[in-house]
Amino acid sequence: MTRRFPELVSLGGVLNIGMAMAIIVSFVFYSSDAPAHESGPVKAIKVDAKKAALGKRLFFDKRISGDSSISCASCHIPEKGFSDGMALSKAYPGSEGFRNTPTLINTAHKAAWFHDGRLGTNLNDVTREQLTEDYVMNMDMRIMQERAKQDPVYVQMFKDAGYGEPSNGSIRKAIPEYLKTLTSRGAPFDKGTMSDAAKRGAKVFHEKRCGSCHAGTRFSDDKPHNTAVPNNPDIWSDPMRHHTYVAFGLFMGIENIYNIRRDVGAHVRTHKVNGTDVGKFMTPTLRELKYTAPYMHNGTMKTLAEVVAFYNKGGGSDVNKSRAMRPLGMSGEQQADLVAYLEALSGDPLTGAEHVWKDAIPANYTAISDWLKTPN
Ligand code: HEC
Ligand code: HEC
Repeated sequence: MTRRFPELVSLGGVLNIGMAMAIIVSFVFYSSDAPAHESGPVKAIKVDAKKAALGKRLFFDKRISGDSSISCASCHIPEKGFSDGMALSKAYPGSEGFRNTPTLINTAHKAAWFHDGRLGTNLNDVTREQLTEDYVMNMDMRIMQERAKQDPVYVQMFKDAGYGEPSNGSIRKAIPEYLKTLTSRGAPFDKGTMSDAAKRGAKVFHEKRCGSCHAGTRFSDDKPHNTAVPNNPDIWSDPMRHHTYVAFGLFMGIENIYNIRRDVGAHVRTHKVNGTDVGKFMTPTLRELKYTAPYMHNGTMKTLAEVVAFYNKGGGSDVNKSRAMRPLGMSGEQQADLVAYLEALSGDPLTGAEHVWKDAIPANYTAISDWLKTPN
């Protein structure tokens, strides 16, 4: 809606009653459930091919974790839409994670990252976080830089990419350059090849106002909402996961961290005294869902049918639940159609994408094919 304000200002003197009416009508239109965002295919982002090829090699390289045992692709597995198929992620050896691994497809289009949206700057910062965080890759940046310098292939690639000597700063730039190449392509929704069920499902999606939060080309408003997804008890029954969550909570200053038994979500951004942001999580994209089960920030829903049934009953129960969450009264057939529509928003993460993860690997950098075969 705010995007329309410049027009209002520039109208200045020529404003007449007819135009004022048109503006009021458009305001009403935009404040209804029709998303104010554009829709259609996700726009490709321009990339520097040499920097992206370098970023890709780094992404699949285990040597950029502290003990050289895991790469970014250990958790963000291409075949699984760059997620990992688990409810809660693994972590650096010796610990376990407490969140579901999100897809990285279209991540370069986001405005804030992580399920709680705690990083709202850029992918360079997110990459640094993943590299250095002790429960993710536990990497010392100075050691990482030295390891890169000792590999002649990297020395050449950094030079070719215009970065000069390998440095931790350029590693943090090259990986995001690769992430920019990961944009959705080839979904029936984009190709105009949706089944009849999916087309009926699209109508249900709009009637039930899913688009009020899942808006735009990525089907996300990039905002946190409380839909009252139930807790995943494994975070508290598994000592390793609980330990990781407590360490995270202490760092983020979560109040009463030793006693609480829930993931507070976006509360870490605001720490509001009345706690109204507790339980809010970022609206995820609805693209590539075919590959990214299980769902939600804590992986508590195994199938899309389960997710749709959850919405049909108006979500879970929480004092701060969004008012947009209410029972939807969908028939069994409408729910199945809605699932068909959600599935039609998935392309092919490997061959259908216009990204360089599979092609554009320079012939002399053969070692990468081994990592691709064994992403774990
Ligand atoms: C041990 C598993 C693991 C490894 C290794 C890992 N990630 Fe992640 N990644 C996750 C999890 C889990 C999250 C969500 C964390 C959260 O919400 O707090 C995440 C979130 C992200 C996000 C934010 C996505 C979004 O939609 O908000 C990006 C970008 C990302 N990772 C990139 C990387 C890169 C680049 C690397 C390698 C340098 C990497 N990750 C290594 C598990 C991992
Ligand atoms: C009030 C905003 C809002 C509305 C309305 C809404 N969603 Fe969501 N949706 C979210 C949020 C926030 C999450 C993530 C919750 C979490 O991680 O705990 C989510 C998660 C999902 C997921 C899981 C995605 C994943 O990768 O884990 C699917 C699928 C989904 N929604 C579909 C729908 C459908 C279909 C509708 C309409 C019936 C709908 N949503 C309505 C905000 C909303």
